[in-house]
Amino acid sequence: MILVTGATGIAGSEVVRAVRRRGERVRAFVRDPQRAREKLGDEIELAVGDFADPRSVRAALEGVDDVVLSCADDPRRVAWETSAIDAAAAAGVRRIVKLSAVGAAPGSPVAFWDWHDRVERHLTASAVPGVILRSSFHMTNVLAGAEQVAGAGRLYAPAGAARIAMIDPRDVGAVAAAVLSTAGHDGRTYVLTGPAAITYVQVAAALSAATGRAVEFTDVPDHDAKQGLIQAGLPDVVAEQVVQVFAMARRGAAEQVTATVASLTGRPPRDVAAFARDHARLFAPAAVGAGR
Ligand SMILES: NC(=O)c1ccc[n+]([C@@H]2O[C@H](COP(=O)([O-])OP(=O)(O)OC[C@H]3O[C@@H](n4cnc5c(N)ncnc54)[C@H](OP(=O)(O)O)[C@@H]3O)[C@@H](O)[C@H]2O)c1
Repeated sequence: MILVTGATGIAGSEVVRAVRRRGERVRAFVRDPQRAREKLGDEIELAVGDFADPRSVRAALEGVDDVVLSCADDPRRVAWETSAIDAAAAAGVRRIVKLSAVGAAPGSPVAFWDWHDRVERHLTASAVPGVILRSSFHMTNVLAGAEQVAGAGRLYAPAGAARIAMIDPRDVGAVAAAVLSTAGHDGRTYVLTGPAAITYVQVAAALSAATGRAVEFTDVPDHDAKQGLIQAGLPDVVAEQVVQVFAMARRGAAEQVTATVASLTGRPPRDVAAFARDHARLFAPAAVGAGR
């Protein structure tokens, strides 16, 4: 039995799907069962709970062999994830696969990456063998700008000329499932990227090709980007960190391309053209006001 936390999230839900495709038993740790059913279907076993409620975490771990640990970018993540690791150790879990980020490092200017580093180190020091999957920037981040792409043909981001080896989260799910179903990964840290380091001009070109309508990238100053994210509903602290992620990317922090997805799953990572085609409906003019 594999427990996936953050299972209603972008990466967590892809892990659930990929693990199921491999025929493994999976239990999803979720806060909202209705949202989970909508996202994951009716057949997935649910453990309803919250990282902040240790009893619910312990209950979810009953009878579990492996855990995929995913969580939101929240200032409480270190406390939540380290407690879950301790609970998994106490429950006799045999392996934890932690979803982390490229850039995870102590004292990183991106708080998300500092938090990931702290959880990684806690896992490494724990009694449970761990596998760390450090993903590059998710292609799904581009969906945050879908409405403006659909409405005005403009892709806004504070990306400048950053080259980003962005990855489709479906490939993160596929790697997690592969790691869980084969031996020899305990103690390893894998860096997961897409097939190429690309600029936002190239992302806009892929969206143009997929929607059949010109999409242009517009660089945005950090301050304006942060205000836009706050207006879109992100907490101040998260908006600040998202802007920091782009600042680091402009300095080359997301350029590295690895062959890990292909070597672990047996197929190349999806490229941005495939991502754009598969989500074209959300970026096309008809999506405006269509209640996506
Ligand atoms: N986005 C990127 O570019 C990127 C790149 C590299 C690594 N990562 C990492 O990948 C991981 C997953 O990212 P994601 O985009 O899939 O995140 P996400 O879509 O924001 O999902 C976060 C998940 O955590 C759940 N969650 C939040 N608070 C919780 C709580 N108190 N108790 C239980 N569950 C809780 C959420 O549940 P609800 O649905 O109930 O809110 C959701 O399922 C994160 O650690 C992130 O740092 C992201």
